[in-house]
Amino acid sequence: MRVRLLILCLVALNGVQAKDGASLAEQYWRTPSEWPAFIVDEGVQAEEIGPLPSLPSVSWHTPESEELGKLLFFDPRLSGSGQLACASCHDSQLGWGDGRRVSAGHDRRAGQRNAMTLLNAAYFDHLFWDGRAQGLLDQALQPIQSPLEMNAELEVVVERLANTAGYHMRFESAFGSPVVSAERIAQSIASFVRSLVSSRSRFDRFAQGDYERLTDEEIEGLHLFRTRARCMNCHSGPLFSDGQFHHTGLSYYGRRFEDLGRFHVTGKAQDRGKFRTPTLRNVRHTGPWMHNGLFDDFTGILRMYNHGITFAARSKPGAPVLSPLIRPLGLNDREIAALEAFLDTIGRRPPFVEPPVLPGLTESDSGATSEFLSTGTH
Ligand code: HEC
Ligand code: HEC
Repeated sequence: MRVRLLILCLVALNGVQAKDGASLAEQYWRTPSEWPAFIVDEGVQAEEIGPLPSLPSVSWHTPESEELGKLLFFDPRLSGSGQLACASCHDSQLGWGDGRRVSAGHDRRAGQRNAMTLLNAAYFDHLFWDGRAQGLLDQALQPIQSPLEMNAELEVVVERLANTAGYHMRFESAFGSPVVSAERIAQSIASFVRSLVSSRSRFDRFAQGDYERLTDEEIEGLHLFRTRARCMNCHSGPLFSDGQFHHTGLSYYGRRFEDLGRFHVTGKAQDRGKFRTPTLRNVRHTGPWMHNGLFDDFTGILRMYNHGITFAARSKPGAPVLSPLIRPLGLNDREIAALEAFLDTIGRRPPFVEPPVLPGLTESDSGATSEFLSTGTH
């Protein structure tokens, strides 16, 4: 461990020139295990960034349940008002979020939080900004019942779908009988959300040996991300997230919009103001950013990290404590631009997913629904 720390220090002091005289780019035109070592604080468990592994298989996912799940995901009949579908707030054209600061749910009431991208949600053990759901199966029915989101009673939704002729066949082919149940709805929706995974990014191709994919500036950003910019302390591994909870200073402590995040789940004082580290894959296309959608300017986020998020350093009693992993970085404008350029290489705008024709509606009715979904609710 000590030897590794020493090597890390040497790399940091040496800056961009390696002992053998290789330029920074040359040091990265190698397999990731031969890249300059990344730097994290003592005690932090971090895994190298790199391409996503394939998802471990689960018993409840089948192509048929995924197909049914796609219909349910786009179907506003899963909401109390019959007007709001999962797709209203998770839109492929808006990075699988809704492009708003915080979501507007039932009756267009503003929720408290920013709609998360669904890309790669299947990889996380704890879902939502506060981690209150344990995986996709546990998560799937929560928005349907949430008064701030779809505001429906499960029994009513089950009955509504059971009375929609076009669904019988779909449940039959997914589960072997036409019975509609909450459990089957959850499994199907989870199967569809599981299919939403980032495609291979430019960075992934680079890490797999296609060295033309990144420019020198982007490689400098990659190096900063892994070293002086300290991002790897939390945004590590193939997901660019440690899956853990941190307070990075973005709370309105003591004000009307106060959201204590993880604390609402665990009740532990040390969890006040902590939120799950989001993935940074496709991040340029999932704004506005942060649990409260505070930022719609991407460079602003990097400037905030560069300052060590000092505006959070309030000393009111009971205030959430800023993570000790957040510190001023001392990056200059050129370095911030390089970091931003690198973040652009870890995912493109996700492809548009055509809303499906919903069962029990004629083609033209369904067209009206799609139009409503893509314009009326955003
Ligand atoms: C009214 C807008 C709205 C609707 C409708 C909605 N969501 Fe969400 N979704 C959100 C918001 C906001 C969050 C973050 C909530 C939080 O952290 O408390 C979220 C978070 C999630 C997450 C967590 C992702 C992660 O990485 O942790 C998943 C999965 C998800 N939604 C799936 C769904 C599904 C499936 C449906 C339909 C059954 C749905 N959502 C309906 C707004 C919405
Ligand atoms: C202490 C852990 C930690 C460190 C260090 C850290 N982040 Fe974060 N990051 C988080 C957490 C937690 C959030 C969500 C905070 C919230 O919403 O309140 C976040 C949010 C973000 C977001 C917004 C993503 C979204 O989907 O809303 C971006 C972009 C980001 N971080 C980039 C970076 C970069 C670049 C660095 C290095 C300069 C960095 N982070 C360093 C933990 C960290």
